[in-house]
Amino acid sequence: MPLLSVSHLSLTLNAQQILKNVTFSVDQGEVVGLIGPNGSGKTTLFNVLSGFLKPTDGSIHLRDADITSVSPAQRAKLGIGRVFQNFGIFREMTLEENVLVALEALPKEQRMLLGNIKDVVKGTLDMVGLSQHAKKKAGSLSGGQMRLLEIARTLKSGKELFLLDEPTAGVSPKMTKQVAELIAELKKEGKTVLIIEHDLPFISQICDRVMVLDLGEVVLNGKPKEIKHDKKLQEIYFGADPTA
Ligand SMILES: Nc1ncnc2c1ncn2[C@@H]1O[C@H](COP(=O)(O)OP(=O)(O)OP(=O)(O)O)[C@@H](O)[C@H]1O
Ligand SMILES: [Mg+2]
Repeated sequence: MPLLSVSHLSLTLNAQQILKNVTFSVDQGEVVGLIGPNGSGKTTLFNVLSGFLKPTDGSIHLRDADITSVSPAQRAKLGIGRVFQNFGIFREMTLEENVLVALEALPKEQRMLLGNIKDVVKGTLDMVGLSQHAKKKAGSLSGGQMRLLEIARTLKSGKELFLLDEPTAGVSPKMTKQVAELIAELKKEGKTVLIIEHDLPFISQICDRVMVLDLGEVVLNGKPKEIKHDKKLQEIYFGADPTA
């Protein structure tokens, strides 16, 4: 059974159909890329998956549970984690405290399994190369560093399914590499990732599968190698070679 099943999902906002009959599934442990031109509905799809927008039609299942009408908070509890751009980071708190807050939000049994909390906090910051800034306020980080902190923190939050919306936007090449490593780490732990990115070489490198959204519809869904040379992909990007 897939971890996530999305079936005939449609969304109309202000008489504009933004998502059209979107159907796909994601298996546990898969890393799936979501690409498509600006305004094609990628972020909107994430908003529907995390419960911030109610679909006009269709259903969403997490394993065998129908979560179509479940609140965002409840979906988070069920294991859907979303990384927002510079959101959810407490700028007035230190990096350490930011990680602690996430750990404290875990159910007690899960927290016990992690072992020594101090070590977990350090390990989390080490993972993204930020442990030397542990005592600094998060607000003093660069945008890219904050992004990494947020991803690292979500990673330790006991989530099953990660929705990452352009995690490398505005991030240096070095940090982009770290994001790729974090995603590989998640995969190793058996976690599932759905990631929106514009950078096709990056997506091809880290994803098992890529879905292409155009005008709110899934027009391609396959292995990076398969979709890369598909004529449709070239057409969508107006004849430009997105891999160039
Ligand atoms: N709350 C809303 N009300 C009305 N229209 C919306 C709303 N949110 C998004 N849209 C519209 O939905 C369409 C898809 O937007 P969305 O942000 O999902 O695209 P995207 O694929 O994430 O684009 P980008 O690559 O630029 O981030 C756009 O036409 C946008 O104007
Ligand atoms: Mg978007």
